[in-house]
Amino acid sequence: MTIRPKNPRAQAEEKPDQGVTTMTVVAVGPGDPRLLTLRGREVLEGADLVVGFKTVLDVVTAWTAKAEVRPMAYRDQDAVLDYAAQQARQGKRCVVCAWGDLNVSAKELLNRVRQRVDRVDLVPCISSVQIACMRAGISLEEAVFITLHRREDAAGPLAELVHYLKEERRHVILIPRPFDLMPATIARQLLEAGLPTERRATVYQRLSLEGEQAWHGTLQECATQFQDKDFSDLSIMVFMR
Ligand SMILES: C[S@@+](CC[C@H](N)C(=O)[O-])C[C@H]1O[C@@H](n2cnc3c(N)ncnc32)[C@H](O)[C@@H]1O
Repeated sequence: MTIRPKNPRAQAEEKPDQGVTTMTVVAVGPGDPRLLTLRGREVLEGADLVVGFKTVLDVVTAWTAKAEVRPMAYRDQDAVLDYAAQQARQGKRCVVCAWGDLNVSAKELLNRVRQRVDRVDLVPCISSVQIACMRAGISLEEAVFITLHRREDAAGPLAELVHYLKEERRHVILIPRPFDLMPATIARQLLEAGLPTERRATVYQRLSLEGEQAWHGTLQECATQFQDKDFSDLSIMVFMR
């Protein structure tokens, strides 16, 4: 038997199979519209319906003029995705937009789409994690990535964070959780867990967007000089090894 690997490009361009309901998830990047991929742009320009959180859709308005555009919020995302799935069943080309890249802290949205249709085509993009690596001058292979941006209890990821920081073998890239586990609270918890007050951290805010900024300092400074509300929901932390 010969196993033929499927060409991903051909797969993405396949006409929807008869009776197979398909939606495409397009990742839009970390905020600067110029970081959208050519493939993402192509799919958006050919879409009948584009849905996503409002801030995500705002990144791609230049390419959605011909489509029906439905913004969603956390409270009505199920209703909007149901509507998109219903349109997809009627043969419409439906796109769900996701922030950053699809492989970084985007599982919940992907699962919601997967539950609704037979096939989900994915168009990846650049993650905020990659921009943070670039700004910090580090490579992914030297780093560990941890996200607190999830619904489950954060105790597990926080314990992992403490473990890797104490080990000091790898840089740590951390996505905080808006708005209860932001950099100031994280710094306080790290100090309580026994990390040295002089341990340095960087907080990048609004990477690739207007008003981008970087704060560098110690855990002690982060814990005492700031409150969580001082940080944008678009914040990412880097701890150099
Ligand atoms: C649910 S996660 C999704 C991450 C996204 N899939 C990605 O690849 O960037 C959202 C979090 O990513 C981080 N983030 C996303 N874009 C950012 C940006 N432009 N600057 C800083 N942090 C960002 C923030 O911590 C934000 O709360």
